[in-house]
Amino acid sequence: MPSLVLCITGASGSIYAQTFLEVATPLGINVDCIVSERGQKVLEYELDIPFNNFKEQFEKKGVKFHPPHDIFSPLASGSILNSYKGVVVLPCSVGTLGAVASGISSNLVHRVCDVALKERIPLVMAVREMPLNAIHLENMLKLQKMGAVAFVISPAFYNKPKDIKDLALFVAGKIFDLLGIKAEIYKRWKKD
Ligand SMILES: Cc1cc2nc3c(=O)[nH]c(=O)nc-3n(C[C@H](O)[C@H](O)[C@H](O)COP(=O)(O)O)c2cc1C
Repeated sequence: MPSLVLCITGASGSIYAQTFLEVATPLGINVDCIVSERGQKVLEYELDIPFNNFKEQFEKKGVKFHPPHDIFSPLASGSILNSYKGVVVLPCSVGTLGAVASGISSNLVHRVCDVALKERIPLVMAVREMPLNAIHLENMLKLQKMGAVAFVISPAFYNKPKDIKDLALFVAGKIFDLLGIKAEIYKRWKKD
């Protein structure tokens, strides 16, 4: 089964990361998860759950969490990350986007993205911000030219979503598609 790294940062949209994990675990995907310090705070605020409870809930399903400042984590090494199918930053703050675009590896999320770029491991940076300034746009273009997928979280409505979960499944599903993982969790476009 493939292994993935999921990085959760302090952008709004913790539900996307939660949904991604809910789908990945029953598929048997090995997920290593890093939640930035600010990501933990925003997650607690948006999901109304203490971060430790969130962590324990997914640890029971096999997800391995890495402290966001653990520079000794195996994930910080190219020789280990090489065996992973991809790195996903979901949701990705423009702060993390900027740090990665500048090569500033001040936490494990930045470092893992940096390693993914140098090792040519698929990297999806699912940015959530609105509107975007020129720095954000330049950073996205820079990373896209280096091989990362510039992904702005933007759920569609043509598939008639019934609730917020449907929107989150659409976003998570697009990421699984990009990684070549068959999850089939959203309604694809089909003309009636
Ligand atoms: C409730 C809340 C929502 C936020 N939403 C966003 C967002 O959608 N996009 C973003 O780039 N930053 C957002 N931020 C700001 C980031 O959390 C902040 O820039 C943080 O330093 C990012 O750090 P990180 O990338 O290390 O997680 C939000 C902050 C809070 C408290």
